[in-house]
Amino acid sequence: MYRVFSGMRPTGRLHLGHMAGALTNWVRLQDECECYYSIVDWHALMSDYADPGRLRANSREILLDWLGVGLDPQKCAIFVQSHVREHVEMHMAMSLITPLGWLERNPTYKEQILNLQNKDLSTYGFLGYPVLMASDIFVYKANKVPVGEDQSAHVELSREIARRFNHMYGKGKEIFPEPETILSHYPKIPGTDGRKMSKSYGNSLDIADEIPELEKKIRTMATDTARERRTDPGEPDKCPVWDLHKFFNNDGSQKDEIAAGCRSAGIGCVDCKKMLLPHVARHMEPIHARRRRYESNDGELEDILRAGASRARAQAERTMSEVYGALGMPTV
Ligand code: TRP
Repeated sequence: MYRVFSGMRPTGRLHLGHMAGALTNWVRLQDECECYYSIVDWHALMSDYADPGRLRANSREILLDWLGVGLDPQKCAIFVQSHVREHVEMHMAMSLITPLGWLERNPTYKEQILNLQNKDLSTYGFLGYPVLMASDIFVYKANKVPVGEDQSAHVELSREIARRFNHMYGKGKEIFPEPETILSHYPKIPGTDGRKMSKSYGNSLDIADEIPELEKKIRTMATDTARERRTDPGEPDKCPVWDLHKFFNNDGSQKDEIAAGCRSAGIGCVDCKKMLLPHVARHMEPIHARRRRYESNDGELEDILRAGASRARAQAERTMSEVYGALGMPTV
């Protein structure tokens, strides 16, 4: 039986990129494996330590989005990272053996320092972002990590840390399995302006957006930029709206018709978008209904997180005592 771990930072509402890129896999895996899904608040603090005011509200939003898309607390452990102290203990242990060079070479690290110039990220904690991430995975000895593509370099680093720890302390035994990335096979969903979907670009379609809001955003969404006039033929493979069709319009037939119509200028972008909207509504309505049901029940949300943490803790305690043993630490 495989174990699965993944997490998301509580930085606000999730968007359709999170849904297509990761959450569809999370939902599928909860029926196949033992899954641990964590709201990683320590990770959020690593970049937002100067402004933690929204952490609690953001954690609630992310939990609602998860439950909305169909994570089922009966099938998987859903919990807040800081509620399971072993993550921090494991982070200490892994920090002992992670060479600085591995962290300094991490492409995400360099990129974030450049892109988030309004935050001072030249801290000891932020450099160790991937060490905590590896620790999250190791606490559950997870074999599989379903994430968006942007995280795969981090999972790769976890494999190297696992290998190093096993080699140094395993006495020939594999203490931590080398975790494997699971990527979604859906194409990336671009934002309304055709760039990467991101809250900070203001181009996101959020999971929690009501149907009329989604429709409004899609109606003004960028299309194949080379198709200037209605009479110009278009190329679906260069059109952000086509990526939405690939995700939402999955009952077959109509898609070929739309692609052919676009290429022959038989249909316009307005028509193409009109054909997309009912598929979006059909997919998102049950998600919104579930989200709303939980939204009005804070007691139940708390219960879910409490139960999730206690399930996670049971495994976490077992792993940590093994780690203390492997490190030769004195026992009482
Ligand atoms: N860094 C991940 C992100 O920003 C979140 C995360 C933290 C994570 N720990 C993890 C993902 C462990 C997978 C496994 O999306």
